[in-house]
Amino acid sequence: MRDVVAGYGGQPILHGVSLAVGTGETLVVVGPNGSGKSTLMKTAVGLLSPFSGHILLGDADVTGLGAPGRAARGLAYVPQEANVFRNMTVLENLTVGYEFTADRARAAFADRLDAVLDLFPEIRARLRHMAGHLSGGQRQMVAMAAALMPQPSVLALDEPSAGLSPRNAESLFAIIGRIAASGVTLLIIEQNTRLGLGAADRGIVLVSGRIRLDAPAADLLANPDIRHLYLGGA
Ligand SMILES: Nc1ncnc2c1ncn2[C@@H]1O[C@H](COP(=O)(O)OP(=O)(O)OP(=O)(O)O)[C@@H](O)[C@H]1O
Ligand SMILES: [Mg+2]
Repeated sequence: MRDVVAGYGGQPILHGVSLAVGTGETLVVVGPNGSGKSTLMKTAVGLLSPFSGHILLGDADVTGLGAPGRAARGLAYVPQEANVFRNMTVLENLTVGYEFTADRARAAFADRLDAVLDLFPEIRARLRHMAGHLSGGQRQMVAMAAALMPQPSVLALDEPSAGLSPRNAESLFAIIGRIAASGVTLLIIEQNTRLGLGAADRGIVLVSGRIRLDAPAADLLANPDIRHLYLGGA
């Protein structure tokens, strides 16, 4: 993202945000509620057009391309809320994820399904269940699995651990670590600063729509100011 100004109804929320996620890198964005994290992600994935600035995917300027166009170029997104079709089965959700980007080269459906379910053993046993009947943690897994079906090169996750118990959040981040290790580039917004930065290469602190800090995740975790502001001073 280069000098992105974006918001709603003509009112800017992001005031000139520039950031880069390297190929294969995991970047985690943290910041207080309302600081513009979801707005940043919606702009990155093409659901919100910036007032000014540019979005690049690889070497291509995709600022004028909507979310479907960016998905066809290998960008997948799991929103903070309403990220599964609740009245469809788990298998149907994964099928939609696969078929949505039909113009994208990827493995055959059965092979892809198998590879994705290897990451999420808990949902393999529940393929015929309605997504809306699953627990919050299982639903989050279905959302991530559906996003992975088209074999994206970049995966954007908005607050993957929201609403999960500490134990479930840790399990989910263990899976995120495996996704990262498979070479997928990750852009993650995470309210659990310790967990998010612990899984990241780099971290960004967004405050009031501006990047306050952009540094190696380990440095941010070791920074007493960050600890004080976002880790409850622990
Ligand atoms: N669709 C919208 N229309 C108008 N204002 C919006 C809309 N979505 C978000 N906002 C406003 O933009 C600001 C930033 O919201 P955003 O959702 O980006 O924050 P966030 O950092 O993701 O917060 P949280 O940690 O609570 O998820 C807030 O003041 C919010 O009220
Ligand atoms: Mg948000």
